[in-house]
Amino acid sequence: MNLSKRIAAFATAGLLAGATACPALAADAAAGMQKAQVCVVCHGPEGVSGNPAVPSIAAQPAQFIATQLLMYREGRRKDAQMSPFAANLTNTDLNNLAAYFTAQKLTPPAAAVDAAAAEGGARLSQQHNCVQCHGPALLGQQHIPRLAGQQREYLKTQLRGFKAATRFDMDGQMTSAAQPLSDADIDILANYFAGMR
Ligand code: HEC
Ligand code: HEC
Repeated sequence: MNLSKRIAAFATAGLLAGATACPALAADAAAGMQKAQVCVVCHGPEGVSGNPAVPSIAAQPAQFIATQLLMYREGRRKDAQMSPFAANLTNTDLNNLAAYFTAQKLTPPAAAVDAAAAEGGARLSQQHNCVQCHGPALLGQQHIPRLAGQQREYLKTQLRGFKAATRFDMDGQMTSAAQPLSDADIDILANYFAGMR
């Protein structure tokens, strides 16, 4: 199967996971903003995180945000801090929250990246096909997250988790993608992504 067919297949898998739970609803970003007041306590103002362990959710693809919220709500992705805040969201809430956060600008605090990490990161992203799924500028698409400008420590934790097959992964593709990465590769990639705008 070629890559775009595989991506379409993931999208379908994501939709199927929520098929009964996720009717197509017109999302309301203003209603999402009201609901987001509790989220920004951890995820930062407008979803731009200042905490190394907490991901920014501003400017993530709407489908990615809604899918992950659904996965936390259904207990498929679990986190002691995050899960309780997804538990009581309705389908309308998760679509509205996704519409709000996707429209926010990601302006993370400048991350210092040395030239060697930047060059190595660009090379590794090509070599391991990160750009094929996450997009040429690593801005994400559909159910695939944006990596550019994400918190560095959060990225490292996720990549180590995928490599160890402990991080939730809806279809196993990301777990496979992480297998060839060494610890040094993970450090370089996380530095590179965190420094991108
Ligand atoms: C108590 C702190 C806290 C609150 C409040 C909180 N979150 Fe989170 N959220 C986290 C942490 C920590 C993670 C990463 C957890 C993990 O590794 O699975 C996370 C992960 C996420 C993710 C996945 C991001 C990614 O890049 O994979 C989304 C989407 C998200 N939260 C949305 C929300 C929304 C929407 C709300 C409000 C309804 C909210 N969060 C409230 C702490 C919080
Ligand atoms: C075949 C497509 C594909 C490839 C190739 C791929 N990814 Fe992913 N990646 C995904 C998908 C899909 C997710 C969301 C997984 C989930 O939560 O179920 C993801 C999630 C991630 C996350 C978690 C981000 C977050 O906000 O939670 C990181 C970090 C990541 N990928 C980095 C990489 C890196 C680095 C590479 C290259 C070594 C790579 N990906 C290659 C599809 C891909």
